[in-house]
Amino acid sequence: MDIVSKPTILSGITPSGILTIGHLTGAMLNWVRMQDEYNCYYMIADMHAITARQNPAELRQRTLDTAAMFLAAGISPEKSTLFIQSHVPAHSELTWVLSTFTGMGECSKMTQFKDKSQKHSENVNVGLFTYPILMASDILLYQADLVPVGEDQKQHLELTRNLAQRFNHHYSDTFKMPEPYISKVGARVMSLQDPTSKMSKSDENQNATIFLNDKPEVVKNKIKRAVTDSDATVKFDVENKPGVSNLMQLYSIATGMSFPDIEKMFDGKGYGDFKAEVAEKVAEFIRPISEKFAEISSDKNKLKEILSVGAEKASYVANKTLRKVYKKVGFVNF
Ligand code: TRP
Repeated sequence: MDIVSKPTILSGITPSGILTIGHLTGAMLNWVRMQDEYNCYYMIADMHAITARQNPAELRQRTLDTAAMFLAAGISPEKSTLFIQSHVPAHSELTWVLSTFTGMGECSKMTQFKDKSQKHSENVNVGLFTYPILMASDILLYQADLVPVGEDQKQHLELTRNLAQRFNHHYSDTFKMPEPYISKVGARVMSLQDPTSKMSKSDENQNATIFLNDKPEVVKNKIKRAVTDSDATVKFDVENKPGVSNLMQLYSIATGMSFPDIEKMFDGKGYGDFKAEVAEKVAEFIRPISEKFAEISSDKNKLKEILSVGAEKASYVANKTLRKVYKKVGFVNF
């Protein structure tokens, strides 16, 4: 299929921590699968990351680690465009224009803004407020047809669509209307220490999260320490047995087995056997990715080369859209 006739996908991850097994199953494996059928842009959203204070050296490292992890998971720089958001100035430039089309009320009603400003009341900055406008720019610059996002980003996508429509209506057709792509296959992985909340890359308790660069021994130890419950039967029951259900979810991810089959397999066995088996299989599942990650990370020049080429390809497309926008709003162009 010709590149022009393929629908376009854009998605991104904020580099606020090392990626987890949840990112892999919930996002990246889908992204990898989409590479043949779609014209894909995958972005590391470092500009979104600074809405919370970051240590500069850490942000730099995490941005590169996130890129290396995308590659380790199977994103191909030949098939897809992999780039760092701050390398494409058009993202900031379009954000400014779109911010003049966004109502204060539209930003202040965003659930994520309300949550984050409550959680980080010491730093409720304007960037946190305009975060969804930057995200709209990310999407609209590439004329994306589909945007794979988690449930928590759906509201931002709704705003993106409103802004696109408003701009198109005020001037003339400029932006493609993007659709959210909420994957149904991606399994939801919960914290190993508090299985009622989502596994997070920024959890303070390191034992709660399986990172994609964890060594097999580390993965095994974390799983052996995972919270379960007292009745010692392996049964999928998210409501009453969230810890065990989460371990079953992880086992299913690693082996492809269904929940009833897992229940049968561990019928009559205790949590000790169950956890040891989950630990083994999940550690083996992560092993090739963490090894690939180490390999990619050891060749910094190659990684930089991939990201430079990505930024160039992305800039070309983004600038095309930006030029149209500037012309429509009435900026002088010599
Ligand atoms: N805000 C998204 C998140 O935290 C990351 C992101 C930034 C993104 N820009 C995007 C996702 C554009 C999809 C499209 O998950």
